[in-house]
Amino acid sequence: MEQTLTLSHGTLSWDAFGSRQAAVTIVLLHGFPHDRGLWASQAAAAADAFPDVRLLIPDLPGFGRSSPLSIAGMDAYADVLEPMLDRCEVEQAVIGGLSMGGYIAFAFWRRHAARTRALMLFGTKAPADTEAARDTRRALIDTVQRDGVGALVPGMISTQLGVTTRRDDPALVERIEVMLRRAPVSGVVAAAEALMGRVDSTPTLDTISVPTLVLVGDEDTITPVSDAVSIAAGIPRSRLVTVPGAGHLAPIEQPAVVNAAIAEFLDVSVR
Ligand code: MLT
Repeated sequence: MEQTLTLSHGTLSWDAFGSRQAAVTIVLLHGFPHDRGLWASQAAAAADAFPDVRLLIPDLPGFGRSSPLSIAGMDAYADVLEPMLDRCEVEQAVIGGLSMGGYIAFAFWRRHAARTRALMLFGTKAPADTEAARDTRRALIDTVQRDGVGALVPGMISTQLGVTTRRDDPALVERIEVMLRRAPVSGVVAAAEALMGRVDSTPTLDTISVPTLVLVGDEDTITPVSDAVSIAAGIPRSRLVTVPGAGHLAPIEQPAVVNAAIAEFLDVSVR
């Protein structure tokens, strides 16, 4: 069911699944430049795969049906989650994020640790952008402003999806293309600027005292397995899962394996 909240910057919109009385609430944050559709396979399986769990799946500001932010920076994306939890009457949630969603999860931990029951980090990394990465983002911003988001799509399909998905699952490739194409230029530019400016999360990894699932596709070339290994090594109560046959978007590329990993993490480390 879709829910919305009016904040100072505009609307925040999310899908909610499961009972308000559920023992555990999970927030799932999409990557760049996605929207809540990235988590369609978790939403579809929620009742069976995650019993007694409430799932909250927002469109990050500037994507889907959520308004762009009026404040720049990664922290601002993290800060909109607290009023969403307040509205849902949730004291603590498991914060799960993929890639940019993972950077937001790190920021949420630093700024709202008391609201964080556990973390789930999918296809993400701890370090800030290098200068070379910032140059690439500047070029991306120029391309999007000049030619539109469609100009990014072929390159993103080949980097975000694993070789197995691109070879075996044309229907999924097409769904991801559709999702990428509907990203608004303003949302893409604001998010790219936040990505360029984000801080290094490496020094705060060892402050993460909650259980943390670190999950990565073994065909991920954007945030490869070595990035996940480094995160897991830095977080005391972490659990590392590598997903065969998945690229950067493991939760939608190999949903059965990812859903089972989430369910096991909840059973062993969170409940
Ligand atoms: C994402 O999927 O959110 C992006 O790959 C993040 C990034 O470019 O650093």
